[in-house]
Amino acid sequence: MAEPTMEKIVSLCKRRGFIYPGSEIYGGLSGTWDYGPLGVELKNNIKNIWWKLFVQERDDMYGVDAAILMNPKVWEASGHVDGFSDPLGNARFNLLFETNVGAAEDAVKSYLRPETAGGIFVNFKNVVDSFHPRLPFGIAQVGKAFRNEIAPRDFLFRVRELEQMEIEYFIRPDEWEKHFEEWRQAIYRYVEAVGIDRKKVHELEVPLEERAHYSKRTIDFEFDWPFGRKELYGLAYRTDFDLGAHSTQSSVDLSYLDEERKERLIPHVVEPSFGVDRTILALLLSAYSEDEMGDEPRIFLRFNKVVAPIKIAVFPLLKNKPQLVEKARDVYALVKKAVPQTMWDDNGNIGKRYRRQDEIGTPQCITIDFQTLEDDTVTLRDRDTGQQERVAIQALTARIGGTP
Ligand code: GAP
Repeated sequence: MAEPTMEKIVSLCKRRGFIYPGSEIYGGLSGTWDYGPLGVELKNNIKNIWWKLFVQERDDMYGVDAAILMNPKVWEASGHVDGFSDPLGNARFNLLFETNVGAAEDAVKSYLRPETAGGIFVNFKNVVDSFHPRLPFGIAQVGKAFRNEIAPRDFLFRVRELEQMEIEYFIRPDEWEKHFEEWRQAIYRYVEAVGIDRKKVHELEVPLEERAHYSKRTIDFEFDWPFGRKELYGLAYRTDFDLGAHSTQSSVDLSYLDEERKERLIPHVVEPSFGVDRTILALLLSAYSEDEMGDEPRIFLRFNKVVAPIKIAVFPLLKNKPQLVEKARDVYALVKKAVPQTMWDDNGNIGKRYRRQDEIGTPQCITIDFQTLEDDTVTLRDRDTGQQERVAIQALTARIGGTP
């Protein structure tokens, strides 16, 4: 099957309500994109899968949702004020977005956070004091981050307003290699859970001179994008750089008493970092498919059920037959109760409706036809094969399952 081009993905996203250019009616704003009705569902699904896998299903993880605006000292301590830059000609250009907090003369210059990690480190002590976790444990956060990228490009790949899903996993320094390896595997578990094409993900051991200032080891998880092999996710061993720097700068003791070993230490950190927007782009590229069905070309997204923005669509065969429509409405209500992400569609002919659902990646469609009125069965159609089977309405909720 031919590889999808970026043009095809961008066009499908706009046409079908996944992703629109930011501020489009004013000519846009470079490096910003707006998620439409289907995009926001897709985005929520991939964040929920992440949260479930890395926070809710584990005993050693704590979630936070910190403010995007932070005391500027956070970014001085972390090294971003001095070191977060890209070379631009002969000068270095700092990627931090500056902003003023407060009214005119009292205003304090601050920054929109460039990574969610900052909000995790400043809450390390709070979480330790509230929950007394034993090492190793992690703090996770999902949220927006901002970077004044010099050249935003390639759709969602390089944007100025992005979303990250990050974990700071606090460890004993002599155990860092073991945890680094565990998180390396965990990244693949997520790749598989959302349905990113595993064959297109490759590891790059980042050489010293290209690593962030805080990292002693970094692996980039790269993806084969249509514009080349580039970073999808990152895994870094940040040592005690951040907690150490924040201890010094804030004069608050961020050391931790390891009761098992009877020693006080600044924990070290292994950090898996996932971009939400790049996840969505990789997922769209992995799912995009074209084939022929019924002698007609079709485009479909092979989303797995957990990721698909719409799980099921329900149609009456004809929209001008009140009996059919009424019956279909009943089935729709029943299905929607079991699976909230269910869509009603009675526009155009049945073939067109299937195509529309295929194109947004809906795994199953249910059609109510004349036979339904006789024997209370419906057709259940599979997106990938186009195969249809008759299922009794009574057996329908068991067949389609509840919300995953
Ligand atoms: N806390 C570590 C950190 O922020 P990073 O490699 O600079 O490391 C982590 O960013 C992830 O955030 C990247 O792997 C990528 O998925 C995403 N990301 C970073 N900059 C981005 C941008 N300008 N546009 C879209 N995603 C971006």
